[in-house]
Amino acid sequence: MKIEEILDNLIIVSQENINTQDELINHYVLFKGNKQIVGEIINIKQNKLIIKPIGELINNEFVYGITSKPSIHSNIELIKENLIDSIISYPDSKNSLYLGHSAIFNNLKVNINLTNFFNSHFSIIGSTGSGKSFTLSKILQTLFRDSNKVPYNASIFVFDTYGEYYPSFLNIEQTNSKCRFKNYTTNFEDNSELLRIPPFLLDVDDLAILLNAEDSHQLQVLDKALELVNIFKRNDSNIEGIKNDIIARAILDILLSGRPSVQIRDQILSILSFYQTKELNLESILSQPGYNRSLKNCLIIDTDGKLREMELLTKYFNSFLIEQKNIKIPRGSIYYTLSDLENAIDFALISEGILKSEKIFDRNCNLKVRIHNLLDSEYRNFFDYPNYISKEGYIANLIVKNGHKAQLINFNINYVDDRFAKTIVKILTKLLFDVARNVKPRASIPFHIVLEEAHRYVQNDNDTSLLGYNIFERISKEGRKYGVLLGLITQRPMELSETALSQCNNFLIFKMTHPHDVDYISKMIPFMSDEVCRQVQSLPPGYCYLFGTAFKLPIMIRIDKPNPTPISNNVNIQKVWFNNEE
Ligand SMILES: Nc1ncnc2c1ncn2[C@@H]1O[C@H](COP(=O)(O)OP(=O)(O)OP(=O)(O)O)[C@@H](O)[C@H]1O
Ligand SMILES: [Mg+2]
Repeated sequence: MKIEEILDNLIIVSQENINTQDELINHYVLFKGNKQIVGEIINIKQNKLIIKPIGELINNEFVYGITSKPSIHSNIELIKENLIDSIISYPDSKNSLYLGHSAIFNNLKVNINLTNFFNSHFSIIGSTGSGKSFTLSKILQTLFRDSNKVPYNASIFVFDTYGEYYPSFLNIEQTNSKCRFKNYTTNFEDNSELLRIPPFLLDVDDLAILLNAEDSHQLQVLDKALELVNIFKRNDSNIEGIKNDIIARAILDILLSGRPSVQIRDQILSILSFYQTKELNLESILSQPGYNRSLKNCLIIDTDGKLREMELLTKYFNSFLIEQKNIKIPRGSIYYTLSDLENAIDFALISEGILKSEKIFDRNCNLKVRIHNLLDSEYRNFFDYPNYISKEGYIANLIVKNGHKAQLINFNINYVDDRFAKTIVKILTKLLFDVARNVKPRASIPFHIVLEEAHRYVQNDNDTSLLGYNIFERISKEGRKYGVLLGLITQRPMELSETALSQCNNFLIFKMTHPHDVDYISKMIPFMSDEVCRQVQSLPPGYCYLFGTAFKLPIMIRIDKPNPTPISNNVNIQKVWFNNEE
């Protein structure tokens, strides 16, 4: 072999008698000169091999990427199959993870670098049926089944959109006694534990997503409601005066609103039906020289349609006003239910509504309708939490099973509608992120969040304009520092936020049929050549290209079939259609 020409990123080598042409494609050659440069034969024309330099052998170790070209006088030799192993695969070790076989060198196993794979975001992309779910199952089975290296402190959360992973993860515990698998379900009839989210841990942003808030006025109402519920559900005699003040101010606003008496009376009755204190309730006594009357009796409207005791009431409520001492009541530190939140929203709507135009009031009322509908639906059960728990305690519970650390936590969200599934995924992810941000030392408890159908969650929803961020985009940018890492699985990369995708360090690319998708992805992955883009469009199921920091070099591999497989098999038409014997 002899170098004929050195081009920008290709080397043309002449070779006599090439008769097994096809077999040479994708093989590796070594240019031996001052440096030992490894190249891949990417094409053959007549007696010429077109070779792409891909890396160097330094102290007999293959390093991907080249810093210089081979010298024109290099000796060239074909790398023998027994040496290729070290070019394409990491050696077996505690820090490697076996993934599958080389698609070119069928007998060669490919290990990836475990740390580099799990210390950054990764993405698995491919059309439907290309092998993404099988691959996730295989990766996690391999990770947890090896009893020589147990990732005891791993916490991998899988959002299982189609409820397909349970059987493939189930026997992890049998094969590795130190590992635990936990399954949460959204199916009320399942044997697994029902997924429950404590309503008292939801903050304004969570409520905005849950109740589909549309604008900043609605955020204000939700913020107010959270302030109210956190004050009124607290049994603390020190804040009794604050409670009275809040009720009195809201009622004074109503009394002075100039609205019709009937409306004033009804709104005061509503306010006092949500919140009362020992001193301030419908039975409270208003004293006047000569007679005492209950607050309820003072709200009677006379025959002229007037609230006769307007003056008395105003004076009475004024007496509860206190100089607001700006006491900061911590949120999320007491127990309350979703219906407590409904009351708080009702109260907040009335008191905010008095000061706002009718139009804004009506718009804000959507929130009331939505929380009411939620409470009326069976989805309310997902917020039925029996006792108080802190955010940290809640997450700690998720990753413990019968007193043992659980490493793999699957959320089967197949049984709720898409919008609600999205809400659950976002709320849980935000809880995980909030907790991870407070962990000291930073990133000492890594959380991996794997999203099936990631394009549904990591897209430009209205949360970006309303809340200023999408939790997944945020994690894709900031999560690595705190050890919160995303695994994005998608068949629609173009619908996935570019920000999130571009932050992934490792990609597994399966068959992609749509050229636009291929084009989009190839722009994110610098090593994806035109040739690879073409090949990607016709890969068989289970075959994929690996790109990224966890792989020795960009390479096509065949992923081993997981055992057991997830329930994502193609329909068996032969068996189903033609089995018509009655
Ligand atoms: N590694 C593999 N080895 C053998 N067969 C495979 C492999 N991966 C996938 N297949 C075949 O392809 C089918 C679909 O695989 P899988 O469910 O993983 O696709 P998917 O990419 O997750 O599709 P979807 O986007 O619809 O969820 C499997 O039922 C199986 O028959
Ligand atoms: Mg799938």
